[in-house]
Parts: sequence; structure tokens; C-alpha cells
Amino acid sequence: MSSIDQMSVKVTAIEQVAPMIKAFTLQPLEGQLTPFSAGAHVVVEMGEGEQRYRNAYSLMSNPNDNRQYQIAVRLQEASRGGSIYMHEQVAVGDELKISPPANLFAPAWKANKHVLFAGGVGITPFLSYVPVMQQREAEFELHYMYRSQQTGAYSAELTEQLGDACRCYDADQGSRCDIAAVMADQPLGTHFYICGPESLIEAVRATADELGIPAGAIHWEEFAGAKPGQPFKVELSRSGVELAVAADTSLLEALEAADIDIQHLCRAGVCGQCVCDVTEGEIEHRDSYLSDAEKQSGKQMMPCVSRAAGERLVLDI
Ligand code: FES
Repeated sequence: MSSIDQMSVKVTAIEQVAPMIKAFTLQPLEGQLTPFSAGAHVVVEMGEGEQRYRNAYSLMSNPNDNRQYQIAVRLQEASRGGSIYMHEQVAVGDELKISPPANLFAPAWKANKHVLFAGGVGITPFLSYVPVMQQREAEFELHYMYRSQQTGAYSAELTEQLGDACRCYDADQGSRCDIAAVMADQPLGTHFYICGPESLIEAVRATADELGIPAGAIHWEEFAGAKPGQPFKVELSRSGVELAVAADTSLLEALEAADIDIQHLCRAGVCGQCVCDVTEGEIEHRDSYLSDAEKQSGKQMMPCVSRAAGERLVLDI
């Protein structure tokens, strides 16, 4: 996807849904929004002037309603500036540039049952799953883990709407989900979905391994995008262009700022779209797309999340 595909939307409502989370309603400036499916995300461009970020956010509105999109942004104070910009700078009436929706986290409709694990703001893609699962009369249960003093948005609504199909675990009240017990107690053909921090994804995957649940039945989406690192220089061997990548800018963002369009979908090191060939320099791989052998060969990298391990990289661009 390139910046040419971007569309403009207007922020028509902002709601503080939890102490650390704001929900944004986005509507088209004209015409209709592109339809989307459950689990889809959009990439939002934030910032001004030189300092621009693009972060992916799950669409949490009902996929049957394309009059508006809704996203939720958790304030990440220790992270780069994107979420702080959304929390502090964006107001009702502002225009934002977003990508059309893409879906890397769609439900596997062939499953006999769907078990959803959400951690904090990781509830968002599942908010778009719920109306579609209800419409299809699919069997599902949602396990929602959060801290009420930070991220406990939507627990009351979901409990009321879903009854026993929604179990809430508030860590601030000492409530924890027994992931192994939940997973062991499911019928054959159940698929499991995780959206939340890396630790939750790892815990569910490790439990699946122990229980012999096939890898194809486990689906996950990390909501963390690029993380800051050391600044470095990058040379583009075909054009001879040299760029500086700042500590809180991803390599992909630095390329985009120089008007170099790189295909991308997830901006989180998962989809493989942004792969670049590297001819010189050591890479700090941070993606979950390349295999260990590919990472060790040092010939390719995912510029959306990965960076230079040293001071300089040369890309075959
Ligand atoms: S955009 Fe998906 S791996 Fe980089």
C-alpha cells in the first residue's frame, strides 16, 4: 500500500472510554467509507511537518455499518509520539489521513467454535467480530483481561450484551484468566484468537503447544507497532540517497518521509509486505515474519519495525 491510497476522514467524536484509552469516530469527508470485514485495521497518519508517524489501529465498529469507522488508541507514554499525538492534539472536527482497511486478522469461519483472548486495548478487533459472529450464529466466547484503572473499556457493555459468553478479568481486582483451563476445555475444531501484549500472545501459543492444539488454529494480532531504538544512517544503493533515521522514527517512516513508497499492510512486522533487500550493515530484526534462517542470513529486513544494529545500513532500493 502506498501513500497514494490514503483517504481523508473527519473526526466526529472522541470519547475517553478508559483512563488510558480514547475512542475516535471517523466519518468520510464525502461519499461513503470503504466496507471492511471483522478484524480489519486502518493505518492512521499522525503528526505534523517532519515528525510523522503512521500507526495501525483495528476497526472496532460494526462491519455492517460503513457510515463510520471507530478506532481506540491507548496512550503509550513510554513509546514514540503517535499515541500521544492522538490523545493530545487531535480534536473533534479535525481531518486525518488513513489507509483503506486491510484485514490480517479475520475469523476462520470454518472453525467449530471461536475463543477470543483480549488484553487491554486488544479488545478492539473483537468488538468488530461480535456483531458478525452473532449474525452468523457462530459459537464463541470472549476472555477479556484488563486493568480497570487503565484499560478497562467496554467490559460492562460486553457483559450485558454477551452474558456468559464474556468473561472479564480485572487485574486491579486480582482477577486472572486461567488460560490453560480455558483452552483445555474446548471442543475439537475450536480456533483461538489473541489480541494484546506479547506476553499474552506467548502464553496462549505456549499453552497451545503443550495441549497439542495445531498451530493453524491459533491466530494473533499484536497491536504494538514500531518501537524506538538507536538512530542510524541508511544508504539506498540504487539511487545513492542517504537518509538519517531518528531514534523514534521507523525505517519505513524515514523512507516514506523521503517520498519512497514501500508496500505495507500491518506496520507491525507480521505481514511481510514491506520486505527490503539489505546489501551491507547489521540488522536488528524485530519482526515475526522472517524465519530464523532468513534473519541470520542478514539479507532481508522488515523496515516497519526492524532497525540497524550498527550505525549504517545499505538497502538495495
Ligand atoms: S508492513 Fe507488514 S511486515 Fe512490514
